[in-house]
Amino acid sequence: MPLKLPTIIGHRGAKAYAPENTIESIHTAADMGCKWVELDVKLTKDSVPIIMHDDDLDRTTNGHGPVAQITYADLCHLEAGSWFSESFSGIKIPTLEEAIEVILARDLGVNLEIKPCPGREKETAEAMLDHLSQFWDDRDRLLISSFSHVSLEIAAEMAEDWYRGLLLESDPIPNWLELADYLEVTTINIDGRTAEREFVEDILDTQRMILAYTINDPQLALQLRQWGVDAMFTDDPDAVNETLFKPH
Ligand code: G3P
Ligand code: MG
Repeated sequence: MPLKLPTIIGHRGAKAYAPENTIESIHTAADMGCKWVELDVKLTKDSVPIIMHDDDLDRTTNGHGPVAQITYADLCHLEAGSWFSESFSGIKIPTLEEAIEVILARDLGVNLEIKPCPGREKETAEAMLDHLSQFWDDRDRLLISSFSHVSLEIAAEMAEDWYRGLLLESDPIPNWLELADYLEVTTINIDGRTAEREFVEDILDTQRMILAYTINDPQLALQLRQWGVDAMFTDDPDAVNETLFKPH
């Protein structure tokens, strides 16, 4: 069965409304009607897969320094909400396992972006897939993506049946098609804020699905949908849904 994606995917949960990549953010996205969310996965020093975007703790927690240098035990003492708003103070950085529990409870699909700290491309993919295979069996509601070709190569080896997506920067590498073929990806995930129509058409010619990040401008969402983009990551599901799905 081909991968079925909703038009709107909550980015890091619902990043505009709750601290990104937290359990609360996943719940917020689900409450806003999202059927899928995108979450970033990286590893603690002792290789526990956690949901976190940055390589450093500073922006989204009360900790400091590289994520790759903190153990899971120490990470548990950090809080990840008050930087966003006092009303979220005290909330924690979730493990992959804790996030998946909520994904299952809320009946969501998930795009797990493998987001390795520098130099940990292989081990991050291996640990994530190893953990995930223990509690996930719904092929049709999972997309594994990464900017890292090494991580995607591991995903192709360890879980060849799970759908993969190749993430491209706003200035895409010239050999993206060769890589997409080699990595056998189902989706190409582009920066929709800078993409040109011709590039979207080049991807459509390959019969692959196109996902665009990170679309918070409802008018841009409309345009990308008209161009043939299949799904969009947004921090603000309410605003984009309202424009895309209101009767014209
Ligand atoms: O996966 C789409 C998007 O999340 C990629 O960029 O930096 O927000 O993880 P980033
Ligand atoms: Mg991401």
